[in-house]
Amino acid sequence: MAITQDNILKALAQVMDPDLKKDLVSLNMIKDISIDGNAIYFTVVLTTPACPLKELIKNDCIDAIHKNVGADFQVFPNMTSDVTSTRSTAPLLPNVKNIIAIASGKGGVGKSTVSANLAVSLAQSGAKVGLIDADIFGPSIPTMFNCEHEQPEVKEINGKNVIIPIEQYGIKLISIGFLTPPDNAVVWRGPMASSALKQFLGDTDWGELDYLLIDLPPGTSDIHLTMVQTIPVTGALIVTTPQKVALADAQKAIAMFKQPQINVPILGLVENMAYFTPEELPENKYFIFGEGGGYKLSERYEIPFLGQIPLVQSIRESGDSGYPSAMKNDVSSEAFEEIAKKAARQIAIRNANMAGTTKVEMTN
Ligand SMILES: Nc1ncnc2c1ncn2[C@@H]1O[C@H](COP(=O)(O)OP(=O)(O)OP(=O)(O)O)[C@@H](O)[C@H]1O
Ligand SMILES: [Mg+2]
Repeated sequence: MAITQDNILKALAQVMDPDLKKDLVSLNMIKDISIDGNAIYFTVVLTTPACPLKELIKNDCIDAIHKNVGADFQVFPNMTSDVTSTRSTAPLLPNVKNIIAIASGKGGVGKSTVSANLAVSLAQSGAKVGLIDADIFGPSIPTMFNCEHEQPEVKEINGKNVIIPIEQYGIKLISIGFLTPPDNAVVWRGPMASSALKQFLGDTDWGELDYLLIDLPPGTSDIHLTMVQTIPVTGALIVTTPQKVALADAQKAIAMFKQPQINVPILGLVENMAYFTPEELPENKYFIFGEGGGYKLSERYEIPFLGQIPLVQSIRESGDSGYPSAMKNDVSSEAFEEIAKKAARQIAIRNANMAGTTKVEMTN
């Protein structure tokens, strides 16, 4: 009996997406089936190019065909992706599929480092990525991307002046650091900082993006409020070190996003500076800020734990020299890549299971 596209669909309906807990056919992930003699071709459309389950799903598809259609067929799944979104009807930036805030509570724990490396890892996986440096008082993204002296163009589009983001390493960037010279001591008042962030969201030409990351300043400030009042945020990532004071501040950031009026889903927690490792003795781990605090916090609040990043000199050097670690090929780039995959996975799960976030209405 000749095989048909229907036979193939029935076989692939046996393959589950382990995260979304439905089969690939119901999820509409199978496209372009074709049969050529003994060869079977089809496309699998995943929810993110950074899908950590790509190989597993591919092998499950091949097994399902062999088991249900015939063991002699050669199976060629073409693994692609179309990043999911809950923002397509949002009034502002509907073409930005996911807006992800990176927050910490305590200062200096590595929000900007994680944001920069996450942006690079996601872009390397093939996603379209933008990054807003929302730290108006202490911007660090221009340095971390080696483009401190760039100046964004302003263009008139449909009668409105819009900022064109700087593009570096394939990532669209905006920062107050591009708009004010580094040696110019601008004294920013709170409302001015808030209006700068509003411009970065409302008056910047982001185009189509899969992920727009927002590197927040420390604390739970006006900037955080401006962000949630200006756009519906898909979700937040929390960065902390294992140190007691950092964990206490991280809890405040978690509590802020969880407030019923704000209600931004927390998609994961990253433990940065989890332990120190000397480059020449990579087996040795020194838990100088304490051990396992980030993991315990994520358990207590039932937040997915995205992983640990060690304290290593090269991460600091990469930040200062403007070439994020994730662009290299070493232990720290692997750690960032793992975290990026896990974050992308949590974003996809969130989009499958929850409605879009709603913007916080202004109240005085
Ligand atoms: N895992 C790490 N290993 C080594 N150095 C790190 C690591 N993470 C961050 N750093 C360094 O620590 C410093 C603070 O990091 P970063 O600027 O990312 O923190 P932040 O939370 O964004 O700070 P702020 O609250 O001021 O915005 C930087 O010099 C950075 O290079
Ligand atoms: Mg920072």
